[in-house]
Amino acid sequence: MGFLHKVMLRVQALLRSLFFLQFLPASFLYAFKRDRNERRFASSAAPADPTAPGKLQKAAATERGAHFVFEQATLDLEFLAADLVCLTWQPGLLPVPYAIARQDWEQVQTTLKPSEAGWMLTSEALAVTVEPAGAVKLCDRNNNLLRQDDPPEWRGETWTHRTPLPQEAHIYGLGERIAGLNLRAARNAQGQPKTFSLWNTDPANISEPGQDPLYITMPVYLGLHHQGSYLTFYENSFRGEMQFGEGDAIANFSGGALRYYLAAGDPPQLLERFSELTGRAPLPPRWALGYHQSRWGYRTEATVRAEVALFQRHDLPISAVHLDIDCQVGHRSFTLDPDRFPNLCQFTHELREAGVRLVAINNPGIKHSRHSNLFLEGRVLNAFCTYPDGELVVAPVWPGQTVFPDFTNPQVRTWWSYQFAYLLDVGIAGFWNDMNEPVTFVSWGEATLPLVTQHSLEGRGGDHREAHNLYGMLESRAAYESLCQHRPERRPFIVSRSGWVGMQRYAWTWTGDTLSTWEALRLTVGTVVGLGLSGVPFSGPDIGGFLGNPSAELYVRWFQMATFLAFYRTHCSIGVDPRAPWTYGEPTLSTIRYFLRLRYQLLPYLYTLAWEAAQTGHPPVRPLFWYHSDDPQLWGIEDQFYLGEALLVCPVVQDGLRSRPVHLPQGHWYDFWSDTCWEGGKTLEIEAPLERLPLLVKAGTVLPLEAEETLTLHLYPLPQGESQSQIYSDAGEGYSPSRLDHFCLSRQDNELTLSWTASGDYPWPYQKVRLQVHGLSLQKAWVDDQEVLLQDNQVECLPFQQARLVCAAQP
Ligand code: GLC
Repeated sequence: MGFLHKVMLRVQALLRSLFFLQFLPASFLYAFKRDRNERRFASSAAPADPTAPGKLQKAAATERGAHFVFEQATLDLEFLAADLVCLTWQPGLLPVPYAIARQDWEQVQTTLKPSEAGWMLTSEALAVTVEPAGAVKLCDRNNNLLRQDDPPEWRGETWTHRTPLPQEAHIYGLGERIAGLNLRAARNAQGQPKTFSLWNTDPANISEPGQDPLYITMPVYLGLHHQGSYLTFYENSFRGEMQFGEGDAIANFSGGALRYYLAAGDPPQLLERFSELTGRAPLPPRWALGYHQSRWGYRTEATVRAEVALFQRHDLPISAVHLDIDCQVGHRSFTLDPDRFPNLCQFTHELREAGVRLVAINNPGIKHSRHSNLFLEGRVLNAFCTYPDGELVVAPVWPGQTVFPDFTNPQVRTWWSYQFAYLLDVGIAGFWNDMNEPVTFVSWGEATLPLVTQHSLEGRGGDHREAHNLYGMLESRAAYESLCQHRPERRPFIVSRSGWVGMQRYAWTWTGDTLSTWEALRLTVGTVVGLGLSGVPFSGPDIGGFLGNPSAELYVRWFQMATFLAFYRTHCSIGVDPRAPWTYGEPTLSTIRYFLRLRYQLLPYLYTLAWEAAQTGHPPVRPLFWYHSDDPQLWGIEDQFYLGEALLVCPVVQDGLRSRPVHLPQGHWYDFWSDTCWEGGKTLEIEAPLERLPLLVKAGTVLPLEAEETLTLHLYPLPQGESQSQIYSDAGEGYSPSRLDHFCLSRQDNELTLSWTASGDYPWPYQKVRLQVHGLSLQKAWVDDQEVLLQDNQVECLPFQQARLVCAAQP
C-alpha cells in the first residue's frame, strides 16, 4: 500500500470517527446497560468438569439407523440417504431446524452389526463404526476411511469435538472467510493454525487478510484427502470455534446438542446432498445476473437518473441501481425520502422501460420512537427483542436509538413481510438486507445484541447465544416470503449481508466492506468459492472495494474478475470518490465496456448455471478441484476458478502484472482470445495485458453468446469424440414455461457434427442462430442437409436438428 493511500485511509477513518461521534452517548449507555444486564441475568452455574460419553452400554437398531446408550450420553445415528447420515449426541438442546429444507426422506436400508471395533451401521454407500468409548468412524463402500471422530467431550453446555485429520487433508467452507481457500493452511499472527469463529460479525471494515469472523459464519466444511472427500455440517447455531491443526480438526460449541451431518462423495455429489438437506437457491430473475450499480451517496432521484443516463450515454448495459441508507428518511427501514424521490412510481416505471430496476436497502433495526408507526405496531405485537425482565433492548444504529424485531418469532416475520407491500407497489424490484448480524453501535464490547436477549425460537424460547447466527437468515426469510406473497408473479431478489446455513433459499450475498486494495481483490476468489462450497451459490464483491479509491488498474482488474462471478455490482462507501465505469476515462472505460458487454453476451450461459444451481446446488463459481478431486495438485489453487464447466477464469490480482501462470487441469483448453488450444495437466505462463485476463474454454464446449436477437453457438471441439452442453431459457421472470436445449458436439478427424434437441414449452427466444467454429478452419457446412454459406468461420441459420461442418486444420 502506497504512502498516499495510507494517509487517505487514515483521513477516511478520522471522518468516519467524527461521524460516529454523534452515536457516542447512546453507544456508551447501551454498552453499560448491556454489561449490567449480562451480569444480572447470566447463568451462574459453577464451571463444570469435562465429561465424556463413558462406556457404551446398549445399541439398538432404529427405523433409519441406530440408538446408542453410553454411561453419560446418547448417540442417535439416522441415515437420511445412503450417503448422508445425521449423528446426534445428547445431552443438550436440539436445534430448531431453521437450516433444514427437507424432512421427508425416503426409507434407507441400514444394517446394525457388532464389529471388532464396536458396532457397525451400514447403508448401501457408507459404514459408520461406533466404538465402545464413543469414537466414530466413517468409511465409504470400498472401506476407505473418510473421517474419524474422537469421543466428544463437554463441560456444562460446551462441546468439544476432535477429528484427527490425515496429514494431506485440505478443508474448505465455513461460510464467508478471507483466510485463503484451504482453511487448514491458514495461520494466525503467531504462525499457529488459525481459529475460526462461528459468530456472525460486522468487522466495521475489513482491514486485513485473514480477519475473522465476518458477516456469515457457518459450521459446514468439505474435507478432501487421499481416501476421498466428505462434508460435515454441525447443526448448531450457538457461538463456536473451529480449528484445523496439524493433527486434528477441533470444533467447539457453547451450547445445544452436538448434532452433525456427514455426507460422502465427490464435491459435486456433496453439494447436491448438502443442498438437498439445507435447500437450494431459487432461480433468480434473469436481470439479477446483469450489472448492478451502487453507491452510498446517491441521495436523490435526480442523481440516480443522471447516473443511469450516463450509462446510456456511454453505451454501457446496466440492470439495477441500489439505493443505500442515504435515500431513506433518517436512515429508517422501509422509507424512501419523498422529498428527494418525488416521483418514485413514475421513476421506477421509467427505469423499468430502460431495463433498470431499483433495489432498496433495509436494516433490521426500527427507530425507537413514538413517531414511528413501525415501532408502535411492533410494540403492540411484542415484536421486539427484550432483556429477560421484559425491558426492550434499545441500542444505537443508523436511525439513532433502535429496537430489533425478533425474526425467530413467526408472527414477527409475517408482520415484517407486510411492510414490503407499498415499496413493491411503487415498483421497487428487490431488497438489500444490511446490518443484520445484527449490528449495534457500541463504545466497547461486542457490536451486537446482548447475549441474554430473549428470542421466541418458534415458541420454544431461547436467548441470543442461540439466535444470533440465525438472525440475518430469518430476516431474509421474512423478506423472501413477503415477495413471494405480495408479488407472486415475479421471482424475489434479495441480497443479505449476514446469514447462516440455508440462507441461499432466500438471498444472495456480497463480500462486505472490503478495502480498495489488491490484497482484498486477491482474497475475493477464496471467499466466493468458499461460500459456494458452504451452499451459497450467488455472491460477489463490491467492485473496486468498499473503502478507498482504487487505481484505474485495480478497478479494471476487479471488474474483469467480477464479470465471471454471480453478483456483479460496483458499490462504495460514502466519503470516497464516486465510482462508475467512466470514472477513470479512457482507456479504462473501453476495457470495462468490453467486459460489461461480454457479461451480457454470456447471460444464456450464466442463466443456465443459475438454473443448474437451483436444480443441483452446484455453485456457478467452482474451485479447480471440483471435477478432479483426486488430483492433489488442484487442491490448493485459489487464484483461478471455474465458471461452470466450460470456463476457466484466471484473474489478475497484482498491480502491473501483464502475464500470469495458469494451471490447466486435465483435458484440452482453448484460449478465449486467440483460440490456441493447449493440452491440460500443466502450468503455462499466459499473457494478461490490461485489456484482458487469461480466460480458457474447455474443449468440447458449445458456448452460447447472445447479442440482441442472435444467439451464437461457439463450438470448441475436442481433439476427437463427443461432448454435451445445454442451455436453459425462459421469460427471465415469473414462473412461466421454460425450455432446455441440448447440444451434442462430436468430432471425427476434422468433421464436426452438432445435434440439437429441445424440450419444454418456451418458444425459442432468438431470431437467428450462428455457429462459430474455433480452432479449425470451416470449409463447408450443411444444416439439416441443406448446404449453407460460410462467412468468417461462421454460418448463420435457424434452429436445426443436425449441422455437419467440414473443417480443415488451421494454417
Ligand atoms: C454497511 C454496508 C455497506 C453500506 C453501508 C451503509 O457498511 O456493508 O454496503 O453501504 O452500511 O448502508
